[in-house]
Amino acid sequence: MSTERPTDTRKVTTLRLTEMKQAGEKVSALTAYDFLTARLIDQAGIDVILVGDSASMVFAGNDTTLPMTMEEMLYHTRVVTRAVKRALVIADMPFGSYHEGADKALHNAIKLMKEGRAEAVKLEGGASICPIVERIVDAGIPVCGHIGLQPQSIHTYGTYKTRGTQPDEAQAILDNARALQDAGAFAVVVEKVPKDLAVRITASLEVPTIGIGAGGGCDGQILVTPDMLGMNRQFQPRFVRRYAKLAEDMHSAFQNYHHDVRAGDFPNEGESYTA
Ligand code: KIV
Repeated sequence: MSTERPTDTRKVTTLRLTEMKQAGEKVSALTAYDFLTARLIDQAGIDVILVGDSASMVFAGNDTTLPMTMEEMLYHTRVVTRAVKRALVIADMPFGSYHEGADKALHNAIKLMKEGRAEAVKLEGGASICPIVERIVDAGIPVCGHIGLQPQSIHTYGTYKTRGTQPDEAQAILDNARALQDAGAFAVVVEKVPKDLAVRITASLEVPTIGIGAGGGCDGQILVTPDMLGMNRQFQPRFVRRYAKLAEDMHSAFQNYHHDVRAGDFPNEGESYTA
């Protein structure tokens, strides 16, 4: 295991991501919702930290991302940005925060930047949200798109299965990616589409694509951090590579602590103060 600090300590910006695409350098991204995890991710040299609305599921235990509120997103964004020095921090716009018109969307994007200290926001959707994307970009706020599987639309899909497996839907996803770029998006997350489609999208855009479950052909990759740390034994899709087995490690740590307390073995002399 490498404990080396990244040699490139330059602050990651949206411009830097474009340069990375042009230079063929892959972008690494992970999600974060709390201070300590965000600090560790940043110190490891990850380029982008997404304060994802996946917090609704992996942090708060909801079945979907839909219940996430602006107040909750602001809270998570604030604690993450407090920890991060190098990575670009993107905050998700939660369900309902950009669906009621451009004015409200801009108002909420400004809150995430001003109160949350995010450096960009992410919205799910394609051509239909482009007027909103343009409005937010016009205000000087960088916008990341999100196409393919859009978890906020789960009740429309009825399933989390791969999107774009049929030619019509694949073409629509490609068109949506281009529309987002034309509307001013600086990057596009491509979720759960066949790898060949992700390659076509990546080749047709000047802005970087960041894939999740979209194969190795994107300009960058993102994973949900608790998933890649192996914290959820119930969720093991094929696209998640597990870099740790934290569920097992945490379970045995909790069991060992319980055992030590019950046995009167914790705290010992060295763990106690004297007058
Ligand atoms: O909310 C999230 O974590 C995301 C990733 C799946 C990209 O949007």
